[in-house]
Amino acid sequence: MASTLAAPDPAAGAVKADQPLRLDGGNVTYALGVDEHGFLEPLYWGPKLPAGAPLIAKAPGELSGFDPAGSVTPQEYPGQGGGLVTEPGVKAVFADGNRDLVLTYRAHRATAGGFDVDLADISRPVTVTLHYRMDAATGILGRSATIRNGGRIPVRLDQVASAVFTLPVGGDYRLHMLTGRHAAEWTQATQPVTPALTVLESRRGSTGHGANPWFAIDRAATTEENGPVWFGALAWSGSWRISVGQDNLGHVKIAGGFNPYDFSWTLKPGETLDTPVFYAGYTDGGDGEAARLFHRFTRTVILPGGDAAKLRPVLYNSWEATEFNVDEPGQIALAERAAKIGIERFVVDDGWFGARDNDSAGLGDWVVNRRKFPSGLKPLIDRVHGLGMSFGLWVEPEMVNRDSDLYRRHPDWVLNFPGRPRTEGRNQLVLNLAREDVRDHLLTVLDTLLRENDIQFLKWDYNRNWTEPGWPEMKPADQQRVYVDYVRNLYWLLAELRRRHPGLEIESCSGGGGRVDLGIMALTDEVWPSDNTDPYDRLAIQDGYTRAYPVAAMMAWVTDSPNWANGRTTSLDYRFLSSMQGSLGVGANLTKWSDTDAATATKWIAAYKDIRATVQRGDLYRLLPPENGETAATFYVAPDKRQAVLFQMLHSSHWSDNPPQIRPRGLDPARSYKVRLLGGAPLPAAVPAQASGDYWMAHGLRAPLKGDYQGAAFVFDAV
Ligand code: DGJ
Repeated sequence: MASTLAAPDPAAGAVKADQPLRLDGGNVTYALGVDEHGFLEPLYWGPKLPAGAPLIAKAPGELSGFDPAGSVTPQEYPGQGGGLVTEPGVKAVFADGNRDLVLTYRAHRATAGGFDVDLADISRPVTVTLHYRMDAATGILGRSATIRNGGRIPVRLDQVASAVFTLPVGGDYRLHMLTGRHAAEWTQATQPVTPALTVLESRRGSTGHGANPWFAIDRAATTEENGPVWFGALAWSGSWRISVGQDNLGHVKIAGGFNPYDFSWTLKPGETLDTPVFYAGYTDGGDGEAARLFHRFTRTVILPGGDAAKLRPVLYNSWEATEFNVDEPGQIALAERAAKIGIERFVVDDGWFGARDNDSAGLGDWVVNRRKFPSGLKPLIDRVHGLGMSFGLWVEPEMVNRDSDLYRRHPDWVLNFPGRPRTEGRNQLVLNLAREDVRDHLLTVLDTLLRENDIQFLKWDYNRNWTEPGWPEMKPADQQRVYVDYVRNLYWLLAELRRRHPGLEIESCSGGGGRVDLGIMALTDEVWPSDNTDPYDRLAIQDGYTRAYPVAAMMAWVTDSPNWANGRTTSLDYRFLSSMQGSLGVGANLTKWSDTDAATATKWIAAYKDIRATVQRGDLYRLLPPENGETAATFYVAPDKRQAVLFQMLHSSHWSDNPPQIRPRGLDPARSYKVRLLGGAPLPAAVPAQASGDYWMAHGLRAPLKGDYQGAAFVFDAV
């Protein structure tokens, strides 16, 4: 992630007021300087500036007796002290009761792709190192902080952010966020940015369904394709918080990091605390370009393998077909049908282990259920491989049912406050993965499972939120470390399994989309955005998900109709066209499919393989969001612009047979493109078989759609 660092010679010492620290990447410049109080001040974050452009740090003087200079100066990472009235980077409580922390610039040095800046309190031995690293291609900046106690007495930290970002004074900012709940994740909401602080957060120990740790801020005139957008996301899968508000001078401040709710970290002498990375970017190309930049960044820099990662195989998952009723003959029957329709990876979901016949028993006992699989998993795995598919297995390692051998052996291994209730969710408790013995146990169990069975893929589930987050074995002052240590151990476990089993792929699932963030994405190859598999609801879910995250990791299954979530009945064609807008999978009960259904699926799966690289790696143009009208349209353009795919979906027959003309974007205007309908149907009479990119983008085209829940896809192939 190299970028251009235009900064003073580190050997020369302190930054001068007219000599900013500056990072350039993509079309973005980010700069900071040191003001006359010694505060590290944000100077600029926006379109790329010419080299040497003047950027001068200048602290405002005292505004009035109510606003002393230090309290309102925008700071890159303020300590809670000196009268600060906005969100701090860090809030400390010293053993003698002092709660004043004032951080000023000390030094900086170049690092790969960025720089580190040291700050220190004006008198106490607490220092902060701010890390900055910019991606050269997209201009996306990663910021994090390391807090150090250089003294001899422990210091309590009550609030620690990864970064604080500041936007120029202005009155027309809008905040976009993604909220939701189980089976209804990724709902988009927008509100003006005002002096009222808006807090996006999870207090639940993990990322959560309620809000995603992502934001975008644009201005009133910004559109999908034009205008300024600042956007970002936290790489953290624990309790998190992003706050957005305007200070009394009109600066917009965005602070993000560990959630201070129930947080406390006693920093021992000589100890450091590292925050997660808060990634953020800028574009003046509108909300659509913001998403495309973030997709590109996540795909190439965050997801394992980057550009060299494999395309997502077309996957089959047994969950909706069988739920817990998995057994060898049943799964083999599904696998045989799956292979026939072109499936490339067969995944056995919940129910294969322990006494797991429903959700009240067995979690924690990761041994094959011999009643269901008398000879272990080998016969099934061999059959799956023999059919030409890779094999995947569901696990939920962080959880335990009370009715399990593991809980009977180790009732102390769960999060709990002694003598208090242990609240269950889906009849399960959360193992305290912050404990080393729990972490090591899970490594042994999963490593053994992977060594004894030829498994290529794990679906890693997580099906409840935290309650009673106690860690009684720790001293009271250290118990809240659980919020950090748990997630660090989760990351360690995933990394260690990947290291020991090269080639293993992992999906992050949390009752659907409850754990989708840049932290887990760095260690997993794909995510399950929602348990809601209704193909129409899914269009909105996919639209929300792709505001932030890339299609490359977004799984989308075709399941049976009527859908379990809402009872809606849709055609198999519509279901495939909805799922083909992501990384395609199938989760239907194939043993109940007719020959016609199987033929339909075979046709669409083959067609998908032909456009998969464009869908998964291309630039996504969200042309018509599903929630805004009767139709929806997405457009995917391959990076070399040699192929593009347009999906048009009609969900309300208000439009009868007259859906709107869709004008694609992002084609090469000078190139000629042949157009065909995906799946082989003849082109509508009004659509020419070949024309220039210019023509298609100006004139547009319309899919032949009639009636509710219909869809079609055009493929553009450069001539
Ligand atoms: C929740 C997941 O989101 C589902 O896909 C399925 O794996 C179930 N858990 C299994 O218990």
